Amino acid sequence: MTQVRKAVIPVAGFGTRLLPISKAIPKEMVPVVDRPLIQHVVEEALAAGINEIILVTRTGKSAIEDHFDAHFELEHSLADKGKDALLETLSAIAPPKLKITSVRQANAKGLGHAIHCAAHLLDDGEPFAVILPDVLVKPQVGSQECDLGSMVERWDAQGASQIMVEAVAQEEVYRYGIVDCDEPKAGESADMRGVVEKPKPEQAPSRLSVIGRYVLPYRIMELLADQPPGAGNEIQLTDAIDRLMQEGQTVQAFRMHGRTFDCGHIEGWLQANTTLAREAGFDI
Ligand code: G1P
Repeated sequence: MTQVRKAVIPVAGFGTRLLPISKAIPKEMVPVVDRPLIQHVVEEALAAGINEIILVTRTGKSAIEDHFDAHFELEHSLADKGKDALLETLSAIAPPKLKITSVRQANAKGLGHAIHCAAHLLDDGEPFAVILPDVLVKPQVGSQECDLGSMVERWDAQGASQIMVEAVAQEEVYRYGIVDCDEPKAGESADMRGVVEKPKPEQAPSRLSVIGRYVLPYRIMELLADQPPGAGNEIQLTDAIDRLMQEGQTVQAFRMHGRTFDCGHIEGWLQANTTLAREAGFDI
């Protein structure tokens, strides 16, 4: 069994890029084909062998927790009517092995701060995954390969942190964390020399952007405890990862093999829906 048992999923963001959709519903609850975005992401964690999810959330987002909770009345009513297929759809949302815990982020102080809110829910020394739920990571058509699962396997084999990356256009680098490393092939990892959050194009160490899938050591939580604000005056996870390397720990960039859909903005979300709906056989 993998050492990486828990994934921290920050869901406390306002989702301003999805307004007006996300005014009264959490952006993580927008549908992608036939299920909410967050369900796709939790399914990805399960596929990687990670069964314990820690949601870092805030007021107004309880629909996310409700989605994974039992709904006794509905289940009872479906059972009475013999609607077994729908009952199965419901029970597949939260298989028995899935454990969901949530913790609140009282102040929006940045991604690093959000992740640190889960520190007390990890055992001392326990490695963990981080999944940013805006971005869907799906295998290539016809493949079952789970990139997060490959990252977990690499951690288990080598104990080296894994940061998922993909190439972006030079003019897009200012939106992302950008890693300093030799380019790994798809599905492979390379040692990183550094990582910088939202660099200016002329200062970017490469065009390899951090996608939002990480496998990290417990030490990151200790570094985040006193991490000063960085880009955008926010406490950045990227900066703590950079410090990890400065301490001499091996951090590797894992080059994604699958496909990403950035559902944090309208166009990417529409793209995910049209592409994945056609693949699922819907005639649209
Ligand atoms: C966050 C991370 C950034 C990463 C990005 C991926 O930024 O800080 O390093 O590249 O997610 O989506 P955000 O999009 O929250 O500004």
